[in-house]
Amino acid sequence: MSDQLIIFDTTLRDGEQAPGIALSPDDKVAIATQLAKLKVDVIEAGFAAASLGDYEAISRIAEEVQGPTIASLARTEPNDIDRAADALAKAVKKRIHVFISTSTIHMERMLRMTPDQVLQSITESIHRARRYTEDIEFSPQDATRTDPSFLIATCRAAVEAGATTINIPDTVGYAVPSDFVALMKRVYNEVRGGNDDIIISTHCHNDLGLAVANSLSAIEAGARQIEGAINGIGERAGNTSTEEIIMAVRTRQDYFDVEIEADTTQIFETSRLVSKLTGYPIQFNKAVVGRNAFAHESGIHQHGVLRDRETYEIMDPELIGHQSMIVLGKHSGRAAFSDAMTKLGYTLEDDDFARAFNRFKELADRKGEISEEGLRAIISEEAGTAEEQIRLASIHFEGGSNKDPEAVVVVEQGGKRREATGTGDGMVNATFNAIQDVFNVAAALVDYRVSPLTSGADAMAEVNVIIQIGASVYSGRGVSTDVVEGSARAFVAAFNKTLIDRDGVVTGDS
Ligand code: KIV
Ligand code: ZN
Repeated sequence: MSDQLIIFDTTLRDGEQAPGIALSPDDKVAIATQLAKLKVDVIEAGFAAASLGDYEAISRIAEEVQGPTIASLARTEPNDIDRAADALAKAVKKRIHVFISTSTIHMERMLRMTPDQVLQSITESIHRARRYTEDIEFSPQDATRTDPSFLIATCRAAVEAGATTINIPDTVGYAVPSDFVALMKRVYNEVRGGNDDIIISTHCHNDLGLAVANSLSAIEAGARQIEGAINGIGERAGNTSTEEIIMAVRTRQDYFDVEIEADTTQIFETSRLVSKLTGYPIQFNKAVVGRNAFAHESGIHQHGVLRDRETYEIMDPELIGHQSMIVLGKHSGRAAFSDAMTKLGYTLEDDDFARAFNRFKELADRKGEISEEGLRAIISEEAGTAEEQIRLASIHFEGGSNKDPEAVVVVEQGGKRREATGTGDGMVNATFNAIQDVFNVAAALVDYRVSPLTSGADAMAEVNVIIQIGASVYSGRGVSTDVVEGSARAFVAAFNKTLIDRDGVVTGDS
């Protein structure tokens, strides 16, 4: 019988460390709920000692999300361990994930600790964590640049103190598969030995584009847990992509002799939700979940697929929850819209449904037909928006050909409308200035991206923005057939998030 491979998802911890991602506790609970539907085994919900927002999100996930084990990251410091345990208190299954750097460069330059001090802090922190739970994971940070003998010593110290999972992180994405297998085999043999209670795990970063390859190679060396993030998001070039690991193991079951629990039909929805809430678009040609992952352009390929899908597809799109195309037109009514929502897996409350339907009608009048991608974009923009938030009602421009454009923005909040204007050296800049006026706060626009959602001259565009106020960053997403209107929607979405912070509720994105 083959072994179980534990899927440990860190979208909400390492994934959220990607620059510009700002998830509120509500966003995190929504993602964790979806990860539970995907049936990952462990959800790393955050780093409890890092911020009040992280602490709140972990506590809520621990209480509200059933199924997976819920984990919190912690440094080897006593306060970190206690905060993690506190935040996890209500979880049915909880894990404290303790880490400390073990490479010479990190110990000397960053921690300013000797190897002996590092060993001592591992032992003490794991003893402390064991007071709260028996499920303890230890990670020697920067493991792949750590002297292998010292690496083994740290992992042995962790096991002796009571750690049950030993995770080998390729923190800086330095490993290459064959080398990594050798290191992982050494850890497997010298740390785990014959002790079936110890799980060897890996956590790879993608600086050289090798994260998934390195993680899969670790299975060969005996690893039975892989850590990843949805859509591969994370520090710098990101983490191992959770969905790629799941589909690689499922598709090549002939090669990887391990079982996974995951419900693959939830992959597509999980990926889209993470993209929507993080504001990080999915690369078109991204493996498994990119919009081109099942698109066939060349005539020969199309001909083959029409005769038999398997000529050019190694995965059935339905297996990852990618439904066949749904298209609604401007004559489609509530019933057709509601039917499409059900097919796409959405259950909308009355208010959300009404808003999404109105927006659909408004766009369909302009565009004629709205594809499945467009429908998903509308829902992600309209559903779940709190009543107290500000909405864009309209935007138009004034100014002649020799003048800088002036954007006139009308917004609505709690049934009341108001107007603001802004000038700038272009329409997007003028819009940004008008919206700063609406929200009465000055911000810097640190990232602005437009990508087409559908093709053709009347394509719908998706605009993703990141704004910064002081040390805090906020992301927003907007969709429209008009790029400037889409930009205005994205700015409003991002600025709405600042209201939560300004009202004194810490969202943890600073
Ligand atoms: O990349 C890394 O080393 C980490 C650890 C905290 C596991 O994220
Ligand atoms: Zn990491």
